[in-house]
Amino acid sequence: MLNIPLRKLDRLTPEKSELDRYETASTDEIRALQRERLAWSLRHAYENVPHYRAKFDSAGVKPADFKDLPDLAKFPFTAKADLRENYPFGMFAVPQEKVARLHASSGTTGKPTVVGYTKGDIDMWSDVVARSIRAAGVRPGMKIHVAYGYGLFTGGLGAHYGAERLGCTVIPISGGMTERQVQLIEDFKPEVIMVTPSYMLAILDEFRKQGLDPRKSSLRIGIFGAEPWTNAMREEIEEAFDLHAVDIYGLSEVIGPGVASECVETKDGLHVWEDHFYPEVIDPGTGKVLPDGEKGELVFTSLTKEAMPVVRYRTRDLTRLLPGTARSLRRMEKVTGRTDDMMIVRGVNVFPTQIEEKLLMIPALSAHYQIVLTRDGRMDNMEIQVEALPDATYPDREAATGELIKSVKDTIGVTAAVTVVDPGTIERSVGKAKRVIDRRPKE
Ligand code: DLL
Repeated sequence: MLNIPLRKLDRLTPEKSELDRYETASTDEIRALQRERLAWSLRHAYENVPHYRAKFDSAGVKPADFKDLPDLAKFPFTAKADLRENYPFGMFAVPQEKVARLHASSGTTGKPTVVGYTKGDIDMWSDVVARSIRAAGVRPGMKIHVAYGYGLFTGGLGAHYGAERLGCTVIPISGGMTERQVQLIEDFKPEVIMVTPSYMLAILDEFRKQGLDPRKSSLRIGIFGAEPWTNAMREEIEEAFDLHAVDIYGLSEVIGPGVASECVETKDGLHVWEDHFYPEVIDPGTGKVLPDGEKGELVFTSLTKEAMPVVRYRTRDLTRLLPGTARSLRRMEKVTGRTDDMMIVRGVNVFPTQIEEKLLMIPALSAHYQIVLTRDGRMDNMEIQVEALPDATYPDREAATGELIKSVKDTIGVTAAVTVVDPGTIERSVGKAKRVIDRRPKE
């Protein structure tokens, strides 16, 4: 899939001896490990978290009912609401003095979701993030510029510990102060950057603003995640910086970044580190487990987590499971949408990433965009606001408007209004981009 000739990496594929045991184990070995670890994790949750005990009891299941992997389907799901109801520490399975770290995700409404880690959890997390970073083509001794936010968000510290574990030099810059980001990239010459793809675009703008050629920067590998992004966006970033852009996935409830990651040599979806996180894909409507290959909502059960085990946690992310390629562990297809991001516009289901894919095909348009939803009476209106590239002429911009309206109508099936705005108009995020502004009255 390396369709653009990018800067050569010295040694793309690690030697087998550099990999963790389960990255190359046989399917039988992996399944046996999962059976053993699931049995432990279900017991751990039941015995130490009153919430799980009550839920298992009311569903009429006991940890002992788990004998083989398909038995997991008998156990109840966990949702974000369960974490909220048990705010702040009700989901913890260890006494507070064993909790070495707290993180939290802000969420859009109400109280944040709090997660806890023992020393052992942080150790495991560092291992899986190190594995993710290695899969991206990074080698010990390289310098990593970490521009994910540090703090309660898991991105910064998660990346940091993983990078240290791999033996890299960490530059813990966090998000924001974009001018300084560029200056430090120029001065410290990191080979690797870890950041959200949308903030990478803001860094790109800043390179250009300072009259620097981003293709001449020291960066060779970018490890991007924390928000949905398309392969079209990957090409855009790879081309602009002449680097390899690799996807990393995770969520705080499950651990943080490093639940699944892409390998640079294949870039064909993210290998789930399923020796620690057991994935299922379910029909989001019925809750039925779907076979591998079918698209639905991703669900995780932690296999080794001590402080806050999760049982069948519904991520709301939509994807499908695929067989392993560069590693034996199964892959998940790039997440291009969450059930929460789905817009229903005049009866058609639309994800922001579908719009992203279309607008990036039009040469005069940049990757900075936002979707505004409004309602007239009972009619939903969708407006795509997208920035023109700095060198796009007015006739180009006008033509782009018509082209985008047509391609969205023809391929997604919705009529959208398109406004091409001046470069720099759309608010930049330093972390996760806000793609949808919903101004429709709340029902
Ligand atoms: O975003 C953890 C993370 C940090 C992942 C840095 C990767 C890099 P939360 O804030 O809890 O945790 O948000 C989790 O973000 O359920 C997805 O909807 C979305 N997400 C995370 N990674 C990806 C990705 C972190 N690679 C939520 N592609 C998840 C698409 C992603 N969506």
